[in-house]
Amino acid sequence: MAQQEDVFKKIVSHCKEYGFVFPSSDIYDGLGAVYDYGQNGVELKNNIKQYWWQSMVLLHENIVGIDAAIFMHPTTWKASGHVDAFNDPLIDNRDSKKRYRADVLIEEQLAKYEDKIQKEIEKAKKKFGDAFDEAQFRATNARVLENQEKFDALHKRYQEVMNAEGGIDLDGMKQIILDEGIVCPISGTRNWTDVRQFNLMFKTEMGSTADGASTIYLRPETAQGIFVNYLNVQKTGRMKLPFGIAQIGKAFRNEIVARQFIFRMREFEQMEMQFFIKPGTELDWFAKWKETRMKWHQNLGFGAENYRFHDHDKLAHYANAATDIEFHMPFGFKEVEGIHSRTNFDLSQHAKYSGKKIEYFDPDTNESYTPYVIETSIGVDRMFLSIMCHSYEEQQLPDGQTRTVLHLPAALAPVKLAVFPLTKKDGMPEKAQEIINDLRFHFNCKYEEKDQIGKRYRRMDAIGCPYCVTVDQQTLEDNTVTLRDRDTMEQRRVAISDLRNIIEDKVSITSLLKKLL
Ligand code: GAP
Repeated sequence: MAQQEDVFKKIVSHCKEYGFVFPSSDIYDGLGAVYDYGQNGVELKNNIKQYWWQSMVLLHENIVGIDAAIFMHPTTWKASGHVDAFNDPLIDNRDSKKRYRADVLIEEQLAKYEDKIQKEIEKAKKKFGDAFDEAQFRATNARVLENQEKFDALHKRYQEVMNAEGGIDLDGMKQIILDEGIVCPISGTRNWTDVRQFNLMFKTEMGSTADGASTIYLRPETAQGIFVNYLNVQKTGRMKLPFGIAQIGKAFRNEIVARQFIFRMREFEQMEMQFFIKPGTELDWFAKWKETRMKWHQNLGFGAENYRFHDHDKLAHYANAATDIEFHMPFGFKEVEGIHSRTNFDLSQHAKYSGKKIEYFDPDTNESYTPYVIETSIGVDRMFLSIMCHSYEEQQLPDGQTRTVLHLPAALAPVKLAVFPLTKKDGMPEKAQEIINDLRFHFNCKYEEKDQIGKRYRRMDAIGCPYCVTVDQQTLEDNTVTLRDRDTMEQRRVAISDLRNIIEDKVSITSLLKKLL
């Protein structure tokens, strides 16, 4: 575990050192849980968005896109339930003045019991070797049984307070924290305040106060921009059910505990698609979208074992199925995408609060009804993080050296081809520029002439550039170059005129999309 944490720290520093992600307003020491994407980060992020957008809008005739404003009429958030219920339970430690999410403190305590059990198992495994029977050990070892009992009892109490009638039982939560002896990691004390609900939406004001400003919110999800435009898009696009509306955009949440780099941010980006369907068909569509979205993830080639579904036992009152797609990050399997069957809750609520009729006239059955919705919702930043975590490698080379390489899928890599003149003379720089001038219209190229070739390769490995080309003396004679592959480090001689053909297909988003069909 500690080793994994070290790897994660290295990934975070690598992101900064190589222009992927910087803390926001870095010169002022940053702003909590807000980050800026650098020159390489923005390219990778744009490629992720393109892969998603094209897989939705190009590959599905019945999905169209929109780009709604971040500011929305405040009643939107009353209707959606966010004003009343988009809350996290928070608790303060009076000594350290630090604020925590009460549910996270309890979940960490549960994880501690699990860790203790795991440690006993690892110890016994080492001791007994092949003869070790884990099931029997779990059933008989006194320390494991004791911790399992504590885990089960806490888990049961936690479920009870979270699912109490009328919402979370906040006093019950505090009592658990006290009974478990949970201390503040900063002050080490148990001097806790009561648990309070904290709304995660950021508020601001529109208009001048003199003529009556109104409170508006920074949207906490992009989905509502789609719901309020359902009628506009359906009518103007003459869309027939089933059809989908896709959107990519910023969302804002005043997260109490923002941790793990860009995993939980206060300003982040979502890629959401609402698929409008006939009531009664939702469970079939839910299963189809689960499959489609998992395929999209696995298409990147990171290995099926690194993904899993986490089906929700506890559903929001309006949902009748929900699952998360989790990815194996260095800090465990974590949610990257949510897929939800949201019934007709959102459209019905907007119909109620706006007074507008939001229905679909079905020409096949001559009936009108409020469509049901399957939602797929993925965070761009979490996707970015999962790609970085999986691609990062400190590789031992056969010659005893090491290199840090990002094995990014070529289609997502910020730079696709780096072109190096071997030396800065004899017309080699000009020849290298000529190659770039020819290829820059097809993919992102970079020119590098500083340092020895070996160092230049390392810099390109570190940003995940899949191909490097070197212009040397022979190039000037026969118009061939050496083409070096990032992952295998193999070099081969190819004609300049063949470069585009060799590289373009491998680095294009189209190559990824074709594998989805
Ligand atoms: N419209 C549904 C919705 O917003 P969600 O599960 O709250 O559902 C969807 O969010 C996705 O948005 C998550 O799976 C995650 O990838 C991303 N996300 C949510 N909160 C985030 C945060 N604070 N920082 C980064 N990404 C976040």
